[in-house]
Amino acid sequence: MLEDIDRILISRETIARRVREIAQQITHDLCLEEEGPPAELTLVPILTGSLIFVADLIRELPLKLQLNLVSISSYSGTKATSRGAAVEQSLTKLPESMAGTHVLVIDDILDSGNTLRAAIVALHHRQPASIRTCVLLRKQRPEAMAFPVDYVCFDIPDVFVVGYGLDYNGYYRNLPDIVTLRPEVFRRR
Ligand code: IMP
Ligand code: MG
Repeated sequence: MLEDIDRILISRETIARRVREIAQQITHDLCLEEEGPPAELTLVPILTGSLIFVADLIRELPLKLQLNLVSISSYSGTKATSRGAAVEQSLTKLPESMAGTHVLVIDDILDSGNTLRAAIVALHHRQPASIRTCVLLRKQRPEAMAFPVDYVCFDIPDVFVVGYGLDYNGYYRNLPDIVTLRPEVFRRR
């Protein structure tokens, strides 16, 4: 697996530092809006890519919160791009009403924006008190940069990355750093 790495784009140390920073900012903003910790806070991580990010993030949030995992797939997993792909599936096991609840949607990467858009639409129907969005990575391409998102850990070049939860064909999620893969990896299939 390690021999497939081309280069480390963001190291585990840099990720840890930035996750802590974003957690502080989220905590500050939520407490400011509510003039104290929010009474009801639900984090909605989009699986599977945000798994590791959310595991680290929640342990830096000193707030009373619940998790509501959702699964939305916007690309087949056999391609190194989600470009133009429609949201295929939205397995939302969200409560029918989320009135009074502050929601924070969490995804691994903002690329076309289709995934996050689908999540926001599903949440809007449940009428929560507020909806915030947080992504680990945002690709520097027009669609991603134009998409309104509240918290971005890192802006990255428009390249395919894996690690820290992100996959290629279901693999490499367990790499602790965010990396690019050697070109021959994509030619193997
Ligand atoms: P969007 O719906 O196009 O914004 O894409 C978001 C989803 O596509 C992410 O949740 C990832 O699952 C996947 N994706 C997009 N770019 C990458 C990448 O560079 N590496 C791994 N997965 C990616
Ligand atoms: Mg994903």
